[in-house]
Amino acid sequence: NYYAIIMAGGIGSRFWPISRTSFPKQFIDILGTGKTLIQNTYDRFLKICPKENIYVVTNESYAELVKSQLPDMTDGQILTEPVMRNTAPCVAYGCFKIESMNPDAVIVVAPSDHLILDEAGFVKSIEQSLQTAQNNNCLITLGIKPSRPDTGYGYIQYTDEVIDGQFHKVKTFTEKPTLDIAKTFIQSGDFLWNAGIFVWSAKTIISNFGTHLPDMHEIFAEARSVYNTEDERNHINTAYQQCTNISIDYGIMEKAANVYVLPSEFGWSDLGTWASIYQLAEKDYVGNAVIPAEKVIMYDSSNCMVNVPDEKLVVLQGLHDYIVVESNNTLLICPRDQEQNVKQVVADVKQKFGTK
Ligand code: GDD
Ligand code: MG
Repeated sequence: NYYAIIMAGGIGSRFWPISRTSFPKQFIDILGTGKTLIQNTYDRFLKICPKENIYVVTNESYAELVKSQLPDMTDGQILTEPVMRNTAPCVAYGCFKIESMNPDAVIVVAPSDHLILDEAGFVKSIEQSLQTAQNNNCLITLGIKPSRPDTGYGYIQYTDEVIDGQFHKVKTFTEKPTLDIAKTFIQSGDFLWNAGIFVWSAKTIISNFGTHLPDMHEIFAEARSVYNTEDERNHINTAYQQCTNISIDYGIMEKAANVYVLPSEFGWSDLGTWASIYQLAEKDYVGNAVIPAEKVIMYDSSNCMVNVPDEKLVVLQGLHDYIVVESNNTLLICPRDQEQNVKQVVADVKQKFGTK
């Protein structure tokens, strides 16, 4: 009864120009490991459930990328969205569809673009969560010990009330707080970051859609009779036009009453910034992380993050603490401590040239 849904329809704009609308981060081997992030995600779930129970939800423009990177998946396991409406409809589509085939399904929903270093630890946490979600009417999220007041995460305040030994009842869930609020959360000490990995039974998540996002519940419940028929595509295309654009975090997790968190440690990183890639990448003795290393030559340069196409010959002379990234005929050179400006750059480029 165990299933996995991999959410793979986001854009990952912070990694521009490597990650862009036509080729987002989940489809890139961003750490130079030989596998893309979505391939690693899929491999992790193979250890948890049968391969026919793994689903990917993605934008239709990425369907071919998914097929080519995950050739073991059948067309029926790749659920495509006609428009981007964030993660709530993605979760609804996946969970309603699985429920239509197996009402007793228990589902792990996970991002496609994260790094997990301790795979055994990850598998153990997910298996425990699936078991607890099977036996309890609860929404489970995995929590990570926070290390800085990052405003890009959901913050989970947990209580001492525990089920199955380790699952703490959640008091508040705050998605992407302001910096001031994030700072007070970190100081108070009883908060975890939301890893964005959720576990629940199909029944429980569907009833929560009914309570917190009733319109979306109606849209996907209506589709019940057409899942796995010829009409699915048409119906889903119309359904998505009617969906509001909202994430599962804002739409359900912030509001739901029966949320539990499993404090977890499995070498998690959402690879959200170049700084996080730099931190994890292999570095030479002066702190340069270069992917790939063959044709990059450096003189008197240190602490640089270089990510360029295989065939590119690159020479760095006297450069310190910089990000140098080239992809798709676009070159970005930026001090490492100013990478937060890249999001704005992407917006400006789009406005000026109508493309990313
Ligand atoms: N199918 C589909 N459709 N997938 C989507 C869509 C969509 O419209 N939008 C995003 N995704 C996918 C992304 O590809 C990613 O794998 C995952 O859903 C999460 O979306 P993000 O856009 O990366 O979310 P986030 O990083 O801002 O925030 C979430 O993750 C944080 C941890 O990394 C939240 O869950 C936060 O609470 C959490 O802390
Ligand atoms: Mg993310």
